[in-house]
Amino acid sequence: MNPHPISQILSNRQQRLFKDLLKALGLVLDLALGNKQQHSLRVAIASVQTGAILGLASEELRDLFYAGLLHDLGEICLSDEDRRTMALSGVTPAHLRNYPAVAADICAWIPSLDGAAQLIRQHRERFDGSGYPEGLRGAQITQASQILALVNELDDQVFLTSPRLDLDPRARLRDVAWRWRGRKVSEEVADAYLEVQEKGPWTMSVFAETQWRQLHLDVVDLAKLIKFDEPNFVESILRVFAAIIDAKHAYTHGHSWRVAAFARLIARHAGRSESEQMKIYHAGLLHDAGKVAIPTNILDKPGKLTAEEWAIVREHPRKSGLIVRAIGGMEDVAEIAGFHHERWDGTGYFQGLAAAAIPYGSRVLSVADTYDAMCSDRAYRRALSYEAAYEELNRFAGTMYDAEVVAVFNRISKAEFEEIQNAELEEIQRAITRGR
Ligand SMILES: [Fe+2]
Ligand SMILES: [Fe+2]
Repeated sequence: MNPHPISQILSNRQQRLFKDLLKALGLVLDLALGNKQQHSLRVAIASVQTGAILGLASEELRDLFYAGLLHDLGEICLSDEDRRTMALSGVTPAHLRNYPAVAADICAWIPSLDGAAQLIRQHRERFDGSGYPEGLRGAQITQASQILALVNELDDQVFLTSPRLDLDPRARLRDVAWRWRGRKVSEEVADAYLEVQEKGPWTMSVFAETQWRQLHLDVVDLAKLIKFDEPNFVESILRVFAAIIDAKHAYTHGHSWRVAAFARLIARHAGRSESEQMKIYHAGLLHDAGKVAIPTNILDKPGKLTAEEWAIVREHPRKSGLIVRAIGGMEDVAEIAGFHHERWDGTGYFQGLAAAAIPYGSRVLSVADTYDAMCSDRAYRRALSYEAAYEELNRFAGTMYDAEVVAVFNRISKAEFEEIQNAELEEIQRAITRGR
């Protein structure tokens, strides 16, 4: 495979960005679902190793990697209660058995991941026909999907549920692989996995650029990306992020997307440069990424928070900043997102910055965030009017909010805000809502 012609079209930086974005998305997903740290990445890596032993083509390996990272996307639409019941009983009730299809629909929304989406769609199917949603059997289930199914199950067994604590983790993995062999997955898939364990798996720290190169993954990424006529893959992936962040919270459907759109509107009316508007927009999509780590019973608590709960909530902007910083080249966006709860008079969190020490984009986000919070339904009240939000923002201009930003807000017509508020939910958000 000759990488040269393709790398002239898309830079190394773009390839790295694509991978970074999806790794960060996997991390957010793990946090949102309360998975043991980096479940998604572990599944991705072990799946690729197993696939390599079976001689899968590099395109399939690449699909496996991203399918591993994102296979739990569909769980985001299940309630905490349902997930707990499923984990304890090991059984998925019939009415919830559609979630792999939901995950596949969400995944297919990311440019160039339609192959990965197909693997995710089948990852709950079982070789003996006992799986779901379709009840496929044998060769109807692709080998790559079987790999994903086995690796995912093993990771859950070892790291999440640990049913056989008498065995060391390696022995437990082998034990499950043997029980699944020829029943839940084909014999070849189980054998390949056992061989990976035999050789000793790559650990995350070892799985570095060398492995990517060995697998030609960069080249394949590129080949797929340029086939796709989506001009801005970054934005598409960030919108999936936003949908996942908002799905965590019962009352915030579309919140991140709207905050991003409001903030960009304000930045445009303030005459900021195109590139700054874009950074502010991206920061808006990700500003609450750190919220995924907050348990839902705190997020949706109708009453007053305890001091301890409040301390957890106050940390979320810092975490948003850290998550975004993990994506190479998005340092400015990380900074804007990280300071979205700072106040002009220094009474905000988490850093307590004041006035011009707060990045301009964060000051815009803070106004956009307040506006959306007031104008959407909450657990404890119905949405307030544009006029009520206008009054609130102006009352606290110069104390909580940057008076200059509020002045720009005042110049924008009510209709422009309402156009964003009334915009139809995006396809991706509909997919998540449909699963509920
Ligand atoms: Fe926030
Ligand atoms: Fe927010």
